[in-house]
Amino acid sequence: MKPIEMAGPWVTEYEESLVLDALRNGWYGKDAYKYCEKFESEFSAYHDRKYALMTPNCTTALHLLLAGLGIEEGDEVIVPECTWVGSSACITYQRATTVFADIDPINWCITPQSLERAITGKTKAVIVVDLYGNMPQMEALQAVADKNGIALIEDAAEAVGSMYDGVRAGKFGIGSAFSFHRTKTITTGEGGMLLIDDESLFERCKLLRDHGRRPGSYYNEEITFKYMPFNIQAALGLGQFHRIDELVDRKRWMWQLYKERLADIPEVQLNPEPEGTLNGVWCTAAVFDSSLGISGLAAQSYLKENDMPSRPFFFPLSSLPAYGSQEAVASKLRPIAYDVSSRGICLPCALNTTEEQIHLYTNVVRKMLNHSKLN
Ligand SMILES: Cc1ncc(COP(=O)(O)O)c(C=O)c1O
Repeated sequence: MKPIEMAGPWVTEYEESLVLDALRNGWYGKDAYKYCEKFESEFSAYHDRKYALMTPNCTTALHLLLAGLGIEEGDEVIVPECTWVGSSACITYQRATTVFADIDPINWCITPQSLERAITGKTKAVIVVDLYGNMPQMEALQAVADKNGIALIEDAAEAVGSMYDGVRAGKFGIGSAFSFHRTKTITTGEGGMLLIDDESLFERCKLLRDHGRRPGSYYNEEITFKYMPFNIQAALGLGQFHRIDELVDRKRWMWQLYKERLADIPEVQLNPEPEGTLNGVWCTAAVFDSSLGISGLAAQSYLKENDMPSRPFFFPLSSLPAYGSQEAVASKLRPIAYDVSSRGICLPCALNTTEEQIHLYTNVVRKMLNHSKLN
């Protein structure tokens, strides 16, 4: 059996044919951005958004949006504790202040209550993250944001294929961002997409994306970023996007199989799918109930000894050196994030994972849990 991979894409001859066309023909005149524009327009239509901007990655998509909203030094932006640093780095890029909020013990996303608690007179925005494909309580979060006059931004980096109340992830708030990183459900190797409905915000972000110039102009209006997309990447993205149902189905199939194989151990909590939501399950994560007496770190080392890959559940950002290692204080202020993170791991989510591999993997997990119960 081939080794189980932690993450990776599923690319077919269809994508190869589009990439080859872009490579051969996508250089001159209107063809130079043909695939970028096609990917942008199809992706925005699918998500019921008016505008899309493809970017080099999701981190830059979020940065463009914060800059487009005029967020700057002295402003505060709220993010959940448990997420990848790609959600929050943009706040520092803009010299604004990062404020952390606690998460929900079941969906692992920011809660309306923790958002409300984190808001001050300086708050300009909240970046809500659809963690591992799980959907947060969007309606209540939007209500808190509206009540306090702050922008809600949806980091849908991990949520291709997820839905909340019949609305696709990526349709929430003033703008949303997706990631097409090598490890994501739809990939371009590196890549991202910003979705927006407001025309003037879109125009602003578009100007900011390309050295402060209008398309085709050589007259720079201001010094901005260079976050332009590339046709060959976009051709790969478009091909992957055309296969979105197949790719999301495969992710969901893996999640179902993990669920079935661990169904008799209710102390292992996997990604939830509450009524009214659909989970695209970019990655199946497992949180071990404290009664099992096993930490995420201990689980990871057991799995490693048995040649099984895993990744940590996202560390609370405030515990990282990048944010000043504030664990001692922050774990008391935002205890759920610290608790859930310490008991969780990410299971392999590569799109080439087979049924046999999931059987093997879950057998090792079961052995580990029996072992920990006995101790
Ligand atoms: C929740 C979340 N936000 C943002 C990012 C950043 O995405 P990218 O790597 O495309 O910049 C990621 C990527 O891993 C992510 O998982």
